[in-house]
Amino acid sequence: MIAKINQLLQEVEAMTAANAEELEALRIKYLSKKGAINELMADFRNVPAEQKKEVGMKVNELKNKAQEKIAALKEQFESQDADCSDLDLTRTAYPAQLGTRHPLTIVKNEIIDIFARLGFSIADGPEVEDDWHVFSSMNFAEDHPARDMQDTFFIESAESNVANNIILRTHTSSVQSRVMENTQPPIRIICPGRVYRNEAISYRAHAFFHQVEALYVDKNVSFTDLKQVLLLFAKEMFGSDTKIRLRPSYFPFTEPSAEMDISCNICGGKGCPFCKGTGWVEILGCGMVDPNVLELNGIDSKVYSGYALGMGIERITNLKYRVNDLRLFSENDLRFLKEFEAAY
Ligand code: DAH
Repeated sequence: MIAKINQLLQEVEAMTAANAEELEALRIKYLSKKGAINELMADFRNVPAEQKKEVGMKVNELKNKAQEKIAALKEQFESQDADCSDLDLTRTAYPAQLGTRHPLTIVKNEIIDIFARLGFSIADGPEVEDDWHVFSSMNFAEDHPARDMQDTFFIESAESNVANNIILRTHTSSVQSRVMENTQPPIRIICPGRVYRNEAISYRAHAFFHQVEALYVDKNVSFTDLKQVLLLFAKEMFGSDTKIRLRPSYFPFTEPSAEMDISCNICGGKGCPFCKGTGWVEILGCGMVDPNVLELNGIDSKVYSGYALGMGIERITNLKYRVNDLRLFSENDLRFLKEFEAAY
């Protein structure tokens, strides 16, 4: 009996509980009506008379120890609870951390909105393209410098002798071809997307950037239509005081071709370092779709004519928000992105 009591004493000494349930289980095991200590008490009458005193004291000691230990453990839990008692359940929650739209997305959406109001719908095409859609169907001569290794990322190189080289598209003009080969006019599309060029990365050049292309093909589309859309776009995008200027230019896929400048939206056209004192900044390329391009893509150039335009989203964003290091757009620095929180 003494040995049994000593063993229980040791157990009680070593008792631990991780939570209130475990503690209650211990209490039941040792101190409840059917617990170990009461069992000892029930056996007490079998103890020989000369041992009764010693055993009785031992059982009492065990009972006190068990009660003390359980009370101590209980207190420990209660004081832990007390640590949480200054938890203020009525306090307003921390504000949810909302993300922001990327500045290029903001500007892209703005461009899309303007053209959507004019009846343009969005068209899409692959970024990994073939030479035909990026160059040949867009009337690039076989030896045009834009096909040069320096500009184009090749997926399958020219040396691999694949008839239709697979490349990363260098401009969204490839989507013009993708749409025309499957659709007869009227065509009125806008194609936003990412393009790639084999350039060393610096503050003003990047290996990938974003463009928006617009294409309108129908009967009797003229340069006047193009000019009107350009003027409307410039005013919507940069404010109603904005003026536009068209300079003759060259693109393989348009004839005639032009580059459009807008009156510098920083100095209002007076001349500043941003516009290099000229009062004008270039924002896009455009022109009448070359009849060759229509024919190459299955559209009768004697019946239909069209205009096209293409612009860099980074360039427009730079003008609107003065972001003049292209690398910021792809670094995902939260301090930069947070600046556009209010923009929508
Ligand atoms: N594809 C041209 C580029 O990447 C931009 C461009 C210019 C697109 C004139 C057009 C256009 O549709 O008519 O520089």
